[in-house]
Amino acid sequence: MRHQHRQLDRLGREESRLAPGASEEATAGRRVFAEGRGPVLTDLDGNRYLDFAAGTLTQSLGHTHPEVVQALTAQAGRLWNVHDTSTPDRARLLDTLARLLPEHLDTYALFSTGAEVVEAALRVVQATAPPGRNRIGALRHGFHGKTLGARMLVHWDIGHQSFAGNSVLGYAPYCYRCPLGLEYPSCGIRCASLVRRHIADKPNTSALVFEPVLGAAGVIVPPPGYWEQIADACRANGVLLVADEVLTGGGRTGAFLASELFGVEADLVALSKGMANGFPFAVLAGRHDLLHDPAAATPGAYASTYASNPLGIAAARATLEVIERDRLIEQVGRLGELLGERLRALYGRFENIGQVRGLGLLWGVEFVTDRASRTPSPALARSVYARALDLGLRVALGGHVLRIAPPFTIEEALLDEGVGLLAKAIDGAVAQ
Ligand SMILES: Cc1ncc(COP(=O)(O)O)c(C=O)c1O
Repeated sequence: MRHQHRQLDRLGREESRLAPGASEEATAGRRVFAEGRGPVLTDLDGNRYLDFAAGTLTQSLGHTHPEVVQALTAQAGRLWNVHDTSTPDRARLLDTLARLLPEHLDTYALFSTGAEVVEAALRVVQATAPPGRNRIGALRHGFHGKTLGARMLVHWDIGHQSFAGNSVLGYAPYCYRCPLGLEYPSCGIRCASLVRRHIADKPNTSALVFEPVLGAAGVIVPPPGYWEQIADACRANGVLLVADEVLTGGGRTGAFLASELFGVEADLVALSKGMANGFPFAVLAGRHDLLHDPAAATPGAYASTYASNPLGIAAARATLEVIERDRLIEQVGRLGELLGERLRALYGRFENIGQVRGLGLLWGVEFVTDRASRTPSPALARSVYARALDLGLRVALGGHVLRIAPPFTIEEALLDEGVGLLAKAIDGAVAQ
């Protein structure tokens, strides 16, 4: 255990006043982070950590990237909030979005958080849906936020009883725990054909909201053919495709949108985490005809207190321009290959790793009590997480899966160092 004296003192001081209900990570980690620079965090006692969670999978350029800091600092000295009225940088940000996103997604509304932008997408769906189409489809294991509309789409326990009344439910492509007890590829992607049938059988479905790669549930990567089948069914039945790319969008999977990798042409896309390097910011990107539909674009429909705020715009503009200028998405692809190789080697070494899966710089390591039973082991994941922190590595913890998502700017040597620390943490945890 490294020095923790000052941190424990601060945590003790907070305890009586701070509402409980913190994330699993904050609770298990018990750290007070004081500073971040690039891929490195420093805690209040001066201990350093490689941050392989990039904040909350937000800091694609690493912590306090100088160009984002410069843009924010300059804007902070000029203007903070004039509701959603135009400010000088907005046009430039919209042009950048148009260059980075597929051509058909040519219209944008700006918000601040993931849940807020998912809600905005749901409002567009609701406003434009033909009469009688009053249901929305979602996938098991999907996560879309904690506001009520978003939670209606979430079908697993996110710490409260989910409120999933309004949705049609499809099988997620969770091959490792196939709900149908099948094996890929002999399954013929039966999960997708069931979703397909579901969509065809429910003429009151207006849209399918989906994560192309399911992030919060542990980086579930669909097999080839899954999305093609489902997207075809949606098109054939007049069901809108709403990609929730709050986590995957912005380059993390090796393309600006994960849905591009799977050949899905979404009608609406929700983006947030990777947009402004950790500053609260979100974008709803959509087809012109949908976002301009008079039923959706009523006065104030895309406005809120912090929608289009100039600080968020400054941070997003700087972040996306660096990603574009430095060709960082290509770098994600290259580094992702290396990271995948290194993590698969850990699978070869540790029997308690049930599966390693991912793409780009987004990977999940699933812990089990043993490979034969595949019983999830959240206790082991938590122990690895805590040990990794003690060794100087921060990853993202969610149940029995650790997510590994370093910044796009990470150096190869640090990638190796981080995986080395993870191996050491697993070694210690399994020997316990
Ligand atoms: C795919 C997805 N959608 C929506 C959200 C909600 O975002 P926020 O926490 O900013 O409301 C998240 C958050 O992790 C997410 O991963």
